[in-house]
Amino acid sequence: QKVTALSFELLPRTISRAQSMDVLSSQASIAGYKAALVAADQFARYLPMMITAAGTAKPAKVLVLGTGVAGLQAIGTAKRLGAIVSGYDVRPASRGEVESLGAEFLTSSVSAVGAGGYARQLSADEQKQQQDELVGFIKQNDIVITTAQVPGKKPPLLVPQQAIDNAKSGSVFVDLAASDLGGNVSGSKPGQTVMTENGAKIIGAGNLASQLATSASEMFSKNVQAVINDIADKDGNLNIDLTDDVMSQLVATDHGEIISDRLRDALNLPTKQPAEDAPEEATKETKDADKGDE
Ligand code: NAI
Repeated sequence: QKVTALSFELLPRTISRAQSMDVLSSQASIAGYKAALVAADQFARYLPMMITAAGTAKPAKVLVLGTGVAGLQAIGTAKRLGAIVSGYDVRPASRGEVESLGAEFLTSSVSAVGAGGYARQLSADEQKQQQDELVGFIKQNDIVITTAQVPGKKPPLLVPQQAIDNAKSGSVFVDLAASDLGGNVSGSKPGQTVMTENGAKIIGAGNLASQLATSASEMFSKNVQAVINDIADKDGNLNIDLTDDVMSQLVATDHGEIISDRLRDALNLPTKQPAEDAPEEATKETKDADKGDE
C-alpha cells in the first residue's frame, strides 16, 4: 500500500528533542509506579516498619531487577511506601540513578551496555553467571519487581526456577516483562497470577499501564501530538524529513519500503543509507496515504 509508517519504539531515546515523543518512557514510567502498588497490594504484610502497641512489623525488602525507566519508578514508589529497596542492572551507569533514589545498587558481575543506552543481549554463559548470582540476592527479599528488556529480543530470564523454589512463602514477584515470548520470571504468565507450591505469587504484569488508563492515555496523546507538531507544517501538510536525526530513526517504512536500520537488521535485510530529502510529490502521497489509513 506504499504506506509511510512511524513506529514509536524506534524513537531515539537519548536525543533531548525526542523526549516529549517518548511513548516507551511515558508508559514504562506508569507501569513501574503501578508495579510497586500491585506488589504492595498482593503482599500480606506491611511495607514500612510499624511500631505499634500490638508489636513491631519489620519493613519489607523490595528488589527491582532492571533499573531503566520502569525500574526507577518502581524503586521510587516502593521507597515512598516505606520499604527497604535495592536495584540491579547490567548497565553500570544505572548505579548513580538507583542510589540517587536512596536505594542500594547491587553490583552485577556481568556488564552489558548496548547501543542507544540500552542493554545488549547476554551470551548463554553470561546469562547462567547472572542467574546464579541473582539467586542469592532474590532470596533475601520479600518482593521482586522485574522490568528487564532488550529491544527486539526475548526478555532475559532473571529469576530462574531455583530462585522461585527458594522463595519464602508470601513472596511476591511482579514481572513487567511477561509476554507470550516469555518473561523475566520463570513460570510467569502474561495477565495471570500464579501461586507456587511454596506459597509465592508470580504476577505476569506485561500491560500495567492499562491499569492507570487515564494517565496513560493523556501521556500517550501528548507524545503523539509532539510527533505531529514536528512533521506538520502550518497548513497541516505532513512533511517528514528523513535526514532529521529523530525522524530518520522513527520512520519504519517510507512509501512501503522498510528504511529503519533496526527493523532491517531484525528482518536480516542489508543496511540501507537514509534517503535524500523526500520530493514534494511524495510528501503529498504520504498525507493521502495517512488519511486513507484513518
Ligand atoms: P528497557 O525497557 O529496554 O530495559 C529495562 C532495563 O532492563 C534497562 O535498564 C536495561 O539495562 C535492563 N536490562 C536489560 N537486560 C538486563 C539483564 N540481563 N539483567 C539486568 N538488567 C537488564 O530500558 P528503558 O527503561 O526503556 O531504558 C533504556 C535506556 O534508555 C536506559 O539507559 C535509559 O536510561 C535510557 N533513557 C534515556 C532517556 C534520556 O536520556 N532522556 C530517556 C529514556 C530512556
